[in-house]
Amino acid sequence: MPEIVYKNSTINQLGEAAGLYLHIPWCRQICHYCDFAKTANHSQDLRLKFLATLEGHVTSWFSWRAQRGDGKFSSVFFGGGTPSVYTSEYINLMALIVSQSQRSAEITLESNPDDITAESLKIWRGLGFNRISLGVQTFDETGLKAMHRVHSKDQAIKAVDLALSHFPTVNIDLIYGWQGQSMSSWESDLRTASMLKVPHLSLYNLTYEPRTVIGRMAARGKIEPADDLRLEAYYKVACEQLATAGFVHEEVSNWALPNHSCAHNWLYWSDQPYIGVGPGAHGYIPESTGIGRRYAYGRNERQFTDSVIESAPFEPTDFPVPGVVLEDDRTMMSWIIEAIGSSLRTERGVDLARIAKKSGQSFRPGHKIESGLKNGALKLSDDGERLIATPAEWFREHYWALAVIAGFE
Ligand SMILES: C[S@@+](CC[C@H](N)C(=O)[O-])C[C@H]1O[C@@H](n2cnc3c(N)ncnc32)[C@H](O)[C@@H]1O
Ligand code: SF4
Repeated sequence: MPEIVYKNSTINQLGEAAGLYLHIPWCRQICHYCDFAKTANHSQDLRLKFLATLEGHVTSWFSWRAQRGDGKFSSVFFGGGTPSVYTSEYINLMALIVSQSQRSAEITLESNPDDITAESLKIWRGLGFNRISLGVQTFDETGLKAMHRVHSKDQAIKAVDLALSHFPTVNIDLIYGWQGQSMSSWESDLRTASMLKVPHLSLYNLTYEPRTVIGRMAARGKIEPADDLRLEAYYKVACEQLATAGFVHEEVSNWALPNHSCAHNWLYWSDQPYIGVGPGAHGYIPESTGIGRRYAYGRNERQFTDSVIESAPFEPTDFPVPGVVLEDDRTMMSWIIEAIGSSLRTERGVDLARIAKKSGQSFRPGHKIESGLKNGALKLSDDGERLIATPAEWFREHYWALAVIAGFE
């Protein structure tokens, strides 16, 4: 493989796409695996106050972006928590967001199956959402109970059907590796998803986070997490079944039928900027160095709800909202590591040419990369600019990440 060298050019922005992520922390009950910023303790008053604060933050970010001359959003994602707790209450926020989004922008609402009705779907569609992401987790009643989900198998199937009849594109999340799951149950989940004709699937292997019920049970030895071999077996079955069903395996956890790719996901995987707003939300903003800077909101939903926005204008270098922590100055090498890590497990692979261009550092493939290219674990894109690992290798992410990073050192 030839060395990829720095081509002299000036890049001030991260790229063409820009995203917006909003975090809604409310849940009906807490699932036993979940460590996202969320609470089951809320009232209609609190939810309405939260929404008013969220609108204030969003307005403030929009004025800040306008001052910098940033373009309109190419994708918006309402995540949670449970963004489907609101329907028509989103009217003002969505009017604001639609006005700042490209006409073709993807606008996703993450929803829980128990919130899906023909009525709620019509309202969301009317407000401008055009993609629904449903947290199904499994169609197996035993699994739903083990994970402490609110909905039943029948509710999940009805929700998927209804969402597909009202929205142009739908995703469902499924989890594998839960306590008591069998291979036949997992195969049945995949078959059900295919039969329902869901065009996008996110399949996550269950992680045991310390602050969750299952994390604590595992620490006390009450349950035993599925080992890597078992997880890999579930993963391989998914790869096989979904390839047969016509899905493109876009990233280690994501499969899409043609024309149903998730634009917002690609933004995260290809080093594009996004504004994140709400408790626990993260953002990634372009800087004049050409490499982005990350920030995070605190996770406490009440502190967020009570936060007060100071009025514009701001200095473009200041942050327009309170309660946000900006990461320290970072080095070019830490940016390179991140850019490799976020793209390695995707079908497009690592954009070596872009990294070389931005960092000014050449890429010299070492022995591991050369042998990966020889034995078919890795390949180069037709233009020779991207290094692509096969999906089977995505489970060996660390091995390849270290090898690619070494090529830039
Ligand atoms: C934070 S949730 C929000 C979605 C929505 N509230 C729901 O539960 O349907 C987003 C997705 O992350 C996944 N997830 C959350 N915690 C996980 C864990 N510990 N292991 C694997 N997947 C997890 C689930 O598939 C879930 O649907
Ligand atoms: S998985 Fe979804 S519903 Fe369950 S606690 Fe997490 S955010 Fe709430």
